[in-house]
Amino acid sequence: MTIFTNKSEIQDYIFKQKAKGTTFGFVPTMGALHHGHLSLVKKALQENNICVVSIFVNPTQFDNAEDLKKYPRTLKSDVTLLETVSKNILVYAPSVEDIYEGHTIAEHFSFDGLEFEMEGRFRQGHFDGVGTIVKRLFEIVTPNNAYFGEKDFQQLVIIKKLVQKHKLPVTVKGCEIYREANGLAFSSRNTRLKPDYKKAAPFIFKTLVTAKEKFGTKSAKQVTKWVEKQFAKNKFLELEYFIIAEVTTLKTVKRKSKSKTYRAFVAAYADDIRLIDNIALN
Ligand code: PAF
Repeated sequence: MTIFTNKSEIQDYIFKQKAKGTTFGFVPTMGALHHGHLSLVKKALQENNICVVSIFVNPTQFDNAEDLKKYPRTLKSDVTLLETVSKNILVYAPSVEDIYEGHTIAEHFSFDGLEFEMEGRFRQGHFDGVGTIVKRLFEIVTPNNAYFGEKDFQQLVIIKKLVQKHKLPVTVKGCEIYREANGLAFSSRNTRLKPDYKKAAPFIFKTLVTAKEKFGTKSAKQVTKWVEKQFAKNKFLELEYFIIAEVTTLKTVKRKSKSKTYRAFVAAYADDIRLIDNIALN
């Protein structure tokens, strides 16, 4: 498998391949790859000739220095995992210097208010960091299509907004959340869960499924109260937020409307590990 660490080398390679008509799918990641990532890679390979996977722990999207330090870095095993999928994968694993050229700071973006909802309320500057890296990666890789998991649904909506506002020539595709058999959404953070917390974590999805059922007959406020009560009884999980929001504005629903589409979103701590998940409600 070819691993590029330098932007001009991968740019040069892709430019030459594109001139021959080769199409590129792109899966940006921060590494510690799991089956959720592999499902994105497989989708990219179905729809494009080559899949580029970037592996880069982006410092500007972390609001917590400890979280950045502890983020798993497993390039060797990531590459081994990708080799089990296909030969038509390129890895771009740049250094911080290759991306930020001595200025490791995020650009400031306006995403029409999407950045202030949910994750934006709890992770200061997070989406400026995500916008900065994704825009740079799109400019370097110049993919035809880029694939993002719906687990980070807010990120997906914001990246679509980034592409629209900056007229970036790429199609962004959202892909369904990939779950373990017990319902827990795959995440690079799951590997850091201590056994008791790992056992408790599927409660998040189980609660989302029941919340969805309840949303059929109850108001968003009633469902939210019920979910908060369930988490309060769980000694392993601390709820940060449960929000039912409309999928395009991400604004918390006040009054349900039949013509709108909603999702329920959760962020919860399992010990010091922050987990997020969400579910389509209608
Ligand atoms: O979802 C992630 O892993 C990251 O936020 C991304 C999109 C790779 C940007 O660093």
